[in-house]
Amino acid sequence: MKVLVVGSGGREHAIAWKIKQSPQLDELYCAPGNAGIAELANRVSIPAEDIQSLLEFTISKQIDLTVVGPEAPLVAGIADRFQESGRLVAGPSQAAALLEGSKAFAKDFMKRQAIPTANYQIFDHADTAEAALKGSQFQFPVVVKADGLAAGKGVFVCPDLAESLRALNLIMRERKFGAAGERLVIEEFLEGEEASFMVFSDGVNVLPMVPSQDHKAIYEGDRGPNTGGMGAYSVDAILSGELRQRILDEIIYPTIRGMAEEGNPYRGVLYAGLMITPAGPKVLEFNVRFGDPEAQVVLPRLETDLLTILHAAAADNLQHTALSWKSNAVVCVVIASGGYPGSYEKGKEISGLDMASEEENTIVFHSGTALKDGKVVTHGGRVLGVTSLAPTLETAIIRAYEGVNKIHFERMYYRRDIASKGLKKLERN
Ligand code: AMP
Ligand code: GLY
Repeated sequence: MKVLVVGSGGREHAIAWKIKQSPQLDELYCAPGNAGIAELANRVSIPAEDIQSLLEFTISKQIDLTVVGPEAPLVAGIADRFQESGRLVAGPSQAAALLEGSKAFAKDFMKRQAIPTANYQIFDHADTAEAALKGSQFQFPVVVKADGLAAGKGVFVCPDLAESLRALNLIMRERKFGAAGERLVIEEFLEGEEASFMVFSDGVNVLPMVPSQDHKAIYEGDRGPNTGGMGAYSVDAILSGELRQRILDEIIYPTIRGMAEEGNPYRGVLYAGLMITPAGPKVLEFNVRFGDPEAQVVLPRLETDLLTILHAAAADNLQHTALSWKSNAVVCVVIASGGYPGSYEKGKEISGLDMASEEENTIVFHSGTALKDGKVVTHGGRVLGVTSLAPTLETAIIRAYEGVNKIHFERMYYRRDIASKGLKKLERN
């Protein structure tokens, strides 16, 4: 098969790395890719959002399957456009991608389908939202969310009225997140532990992946503003077998069934961001693609051929596929540019990449990297994800940080506590 991966982050590096191992693969392309992906795939200099040029490329190269990493092209309708031209895409239609593209759509869908999630209200006008916050409708803390895509940054947990008004102003009046601020979702604050649960689906059949946990906040101890994700780990103990079954029965199956019933069958990878509350699992958000950095910790545990799975999901043929997983633990520590998620500099030379990859069972996935005069330099907020696989979580953590210690660039920043939540959980069990 000839395959095109769309995107340029650590997630796409992990997808390309896994697809590269497939006996079904003939040629691998990535648009636009990064310096790490360039070692595995032919880079194509088309941005992930340029659907027309991507389509022309897949036609001219006779690409058999396009795998879309990020949400933006899916929400913009890449799957529909490709299908109209007879090109196979692993990813949902524009209508189905609204599960991520509009938080208001996702909340109303969950309400219609009785899928557990936080209570909420949707507002179209800043003044009405302000009046509601000042009235007695909400109990603080509340969570204030921009409706549309905001790269994981349009969500504010607000302890009091003043903070909630600040978030409202930022989103709706100052339009910090552009058109995503046309509507606002205000929801109940849920307490518990977060988990990421992803599945493959062809619109009818569902194949669950192993669970993982992200670290969204910039600082250790989950403090500070949210980022795209500063690290992740995957180990079975994140969710008990019983909880996993509840998530499938109460959340995943009703979502796949409900989308099909409503005329928008869901194909591709569905990601449920969950809060495990004392009352059971509840949905914080849906994503219509692999998580980043969750893909980096889940895919190294996958024993089944990813290309076969993604092709079957795109071709409505998943009933013949079964997944098998390594029982190991995987930890991914993200190294970011100093200043991220605020402003940061690019173009810093990165050293030690080869040494880090020589650590046992360690892969360095690239996110924001570029090649300049033959050298790998920083080119984004999140730069690298040092990822280690080991029989135990403890060893995977040690290995990943040994890898991190080999790498250097000016003002690099990483959290030192990735997966320590998982260790505490294992001690409790
Ligand atoms: P979202 O993009 O909607 O998943 O929100 C980003 C992050 O905000 C989540 O990973 C949670 O840490 C937090 N969050 C979102 N919604 C809630 C909620 N209802 N209660 C508590 N925390 C939340
Ligand atoms: N790690 C969260 C996300 O991919 O949205």
